[in-house]
Formats: sequence, C-alpha cells, structure tokens
Amino acid sequence: MERYVICKVTEMQTGQRKIVQVGGRSIGVFNANGTYYALRNSCPHQGAPLCLGRVTGTTLSSQPGQYRYGREGEVLACPWHGWEFDVTTGKSLFDPQKCLVKTYDVAVEPVQDSVETYKVSVEEDVVVLYV
Ligand code: FES
Repeated sequence: MERYVICKVTEMQTGQRKIVQVGGRSIGVFNANGTYYALRNSCPHQGAPLCLGRVTGTTLSSQPGQYRYGREGEVLACPWHGWEFDVTTGKSLFDPQKCLVKTYDVAVEPVQDSVETYKVSVEEDVVVLYV
C-alpha cells in the first residue's frame, strides 16, 4: 500500500475537500465533520467527476410520517445526474449494496522524519492517503 501525504491538517478544515492525482487515479479526500474520507473521483453511473459534486446532508426518517434533516456534510451528490453517495462509506443512498464508489484509507499522522533521526518537534499533523 502506497502512502501519500496530502496536506497539513490545517489546510483542510471541516467541510473542505481536496482532489488529488495519485497512482494514476483521481481521488477526492474529504473532511466530513472532522473525520477524513477518500473516494474515487468517478461516478459509477456514467463516470462523472463525482468528487466535484455538492456535499450536503439528507432527509432521515424518525418515525412514520416524520422526517428530519441530518448527516450534514456526509452526502455527496454527483454533479451530472445527482446520484447521492455516503462520503463515509462510498455507498449510494438509493442502493447501498449494489451501487458504491471505491473508498481509500485516510489517516492523520504526525509529521515524520524518514531517514536519519534527529530531535524533531511536531508542529502540525498531516493528512495521509493510503492507496
Ligand atoms: S454520472 Fe453520476 S449520476 Fe450520472
């Protein structure tokens, strides 16, 4: 598994995204309510650049006849035809078992030195993508 440093944590605040090209793939990295997720930037419907879509929430049912809005920042709508995907899982909202987008692991790690060891002070964490 390859490791790619995407940015400093301070460069991607809640609600923000970055679309990166890594390993020949276009991948969207999202900060959804303080947690980072990564999705392939290609819609399974007709291949639109999915990660350019609007990020919203969705209507949740609480009991028969009642609905409430929730999950703000966790639903990604395809910019071409509006299919909606769960940013946290890559699964579509309408058919989560059959229609999904490839997801990738994302971690927040302390800044590392890599070869020789010196005393290092960590000032900021970085967002790291594993493909
Ligand atoms: S290409 Fe994404 S919904 Fe059609």
